[in-house]
Amino acid sequence: MAEKEEALQNLEKIKADALAVLEDVANQESLEAWRVSHLGRSSPVMGVFSSMGSLDKDLRPVMGKAANEVRQALETAFEEKRQLLEAQALKKALETEQQDVTLPGRPIAHGRLHPLTQVLRRITRIFGDMGFQVYPSPEVETDDYNFTYLNMPPYHPARDMWDTFYTKTEGVLLRTHTSPGQIRVMRDRAPEPIRAILPGATMRYEQLSARSEIEFAQVEVLVIGENVTFAELKGTLEDFARRLFGEDARTRLRPSHFPFTEPSAEMDVGCFVCGGEGCPVCKETGWLEILGCGMVHPVVLEYGGYDPEKFSGFAAGMGIDRSTLMRYRIDDIRYFRNNDIRFLRQF
Ligand code: DAH
Repeated sequence: MAEKEEALQNLEKIKADALAVLEDVANQESLEAWRVSHLGRSSPVMGVFSSMGSLDKDLRPVMGKAANEVRQALETAFEEKRQLLEAQALKKALETEQQDVTLPGRPIAHGRLHPLTQVLRRITRIFGDMGFQVYPSPEVETDDYNFTYLNMPPYHPARDMWDTFYTKTEGVLLRTHTSPGQIRVMRDRAPEPIRAILPGATMRYEQLSARSEIEFAQVEVLVIGENVTFAELKGTLEDFARRLFGEDARTRLRPSHFPFTEPSAEMDVGCFVCGGEGCPVCKETGWLEILGCGMVHPVVLEYGGYDPEKFSGFAAGMGIDRSTLMRYRIDDIRYFRNNDIRFLRQF
């Protein structure tokens, strides 16, 4: 009996000692050290289990049960301490690492429309108001569409006006103007009347400079119908210019030459930098050229699928890069496609 008492007392002591040490544990590391020495394989309570074999046979169940209770009590105490430490750590973190909600937020960068896009949208809007449709057209074209169907057969010297980039595929090139789109719209719509604009990128093989880029944007204008006259060309384009540049914008038509129109003209607008007085932007002439135009050539009408005896039409093509440069007083065309945020942010 004495042996039993002694053994049980020993267990109680093991428990009391362990709990006393646990009391002083104040962080995760010492908690883990405590677990190893008081619940680990070579801890006193585990020692009781392994010495069970040397005990009296009828003493074993009693001691086994008592040792189990001690172990469970220690485990429970361990778990409680663990949770306590965790809660303390969280509380401390909340107090010391608190977010300062009064700090100013990070500004969200607002995107902007590219200046060319803005001008393109204004032009689209103006023609839209006049009842024109917007047509998409391919930037990679065939030699036929870019030249031949526009009345520039392979030997024609007028082709020299537009040097372009050729692909490795015979007869496929990057379009030098939006005019090939005229043929595409006509073939799509013939024999219906047409009122369309075709905006898009065009490419030319040019020396880069402050005034020329290999890529630039154009808008093509096309009207086809019965009895369409030069008077309608003039009226429409003058109206357009006034809507784009302002009610008092002055315009003039000068005779010109394009293989795909007859007769052909170019339209100038009174210089909006100097108001017509003459300045470096308009090269002291008081005028700025904004577009080429003319009555669609019969050969082009035929390639498009319209009978020139019955149908007529007018066309115009304008580059929008240069007028955008002038409008915003930008001194180098290469800024447009550099993707420099500092430049784009200004518009
Ligand atoms: N395609 C011409 C160019 O890029 C511009 C042009 C002139 C277009 C007269 C036309 C036109 O539709 O009728 O230089």
